[in-house]
Amino acid sequence: MREDLTKINNHNYSLEKLFSDAKDFLPLLGTDYVEFYVGNAKQAAHFYKTALGFQSLAYAGLETGLTDRTSYVVVQDKIRLMFTTPMPGSKGEIYNHIEKHGDGVKVIALWVEDATSAWKETTSRGAESYLEPTTQEDKNGKVVKSGIKIYGDTVHVFIERKDYKGTFMPGFEKWNSHYNPTSVGLKYIDHMVANVGWGEMNKWEKFYNETMGFANLITFDDKDISTQYTALMSKVMTNGNGRVKFPINEPAEGLKKSQIEEYLDFYNGPGCQHIAVATDDIVSTVSQMKERGIEFLYVPGTYYDTVLDRVGDIAEDIKILKKHGILVDRDDEGYLLQIFTKPLTDRPTLFFEIIQRKGAQSFGKGNFKALFESIEAEQARRGTL
Ligand code: FE2
Repeated sequence: MREDLTKINNHNYSLEKLFSDAKDFLPLLGTDYVEFYVGNAKQAAHFYKTALGFQSLAYAGLETGLTDRTSYVVVQDKIRLMFTTPMPGSKGEIYNHIEKHGDGVKVIALWVEDATSAWKETTSRGAESYLEPTTQEDKNGKVVKSGIKIYGDTVHVFIERKDYKGTFMPGFEKWNSHYNPTSVGLKYIDHMVANVGWGEMNKWEKFYNETMGFANLITFDDKDISTQYTALMSKVMTNGNGRVKFPINEPAEGLKKSQIEEYLDFYNGPGCQHIAVATDDIVSTVSQMKERGIEFLYVPGTYYDTVLDRVGDIAEDIKILKKHGILVDRDDEGYLLQIFTKPLTDRPTLFFEIIQRKGAQSFGKGNFKALFESIEAEQARRGTL
């Protein structure tokens, strides 16, 4: 991965250079799973299976002896999503999260070799503990978990599963379903974006840098990310091997309300704004998701009048990209194709990005303007611009 990330948007961003002071004190193997606290886990899991092509993986609830919550886990290639709803035995934490935030991401779980060391290294550098190292066992082996708090009510849980052979984790049973809709070709989580409050981007950059050993790969200021009306700023943080990337957004002053401010209002504070998932065939993925009911942001047809002047030759038929509203951008290493869903929740908070990288390792800076104008049009329809 290191050599994949040497140049971004014409800058020489070398991971070697970013991480020159040697030892990575928090080696991450990737994203393990993402857990959402939701009002109805059973229905959320059904939606993600039906509309986004996930398959049933694991279940925990009354039948497995769990009385305070019900969790369903779905999977698509390397992506695992968990949906959790409180049950009457719950002490209120999950209820409170849902009341305050609506359905949203609670846990961004990171896969590690050693969850005890991950907890010690991060908490000794100032991270607040969420879960002390805890071992869970069943007949398939053991999993060690630990966790720290991050922005808002969101947390990272470190998962050590090298001694586990079961389906998911101790406490879960395999979820066998007769309903198994096909995959839409989603492969892995490319990045997950945080929205934080006014003036807090640098605080969270410092947090990821100092307590987790991440580096700032790239910064977008309000001139990079603004339209006639609204603006935001963003810093992309990456871990040492480039497998885990967290852009952090904060609102910036504009004539009208920034989309980040709208998010903060509806989520009642900082949280995860979008999950970008990679595919090898964005046209096929997006057409299947549309057929299954997912709505994507609308891009003005005029975008396609000039896009090829900006990005040069691409293998895809521009007419097909235009039909679906798929955006294109290029950097020194290649190009990328991307598209954004409308919010998947009732509140205008969480959405998904579908991304296909054809060499490019950047984040679609050339599309920001068209994209944000499209988001503004949606804000105007909601009366929140
Ligand atoms: Fe993104």
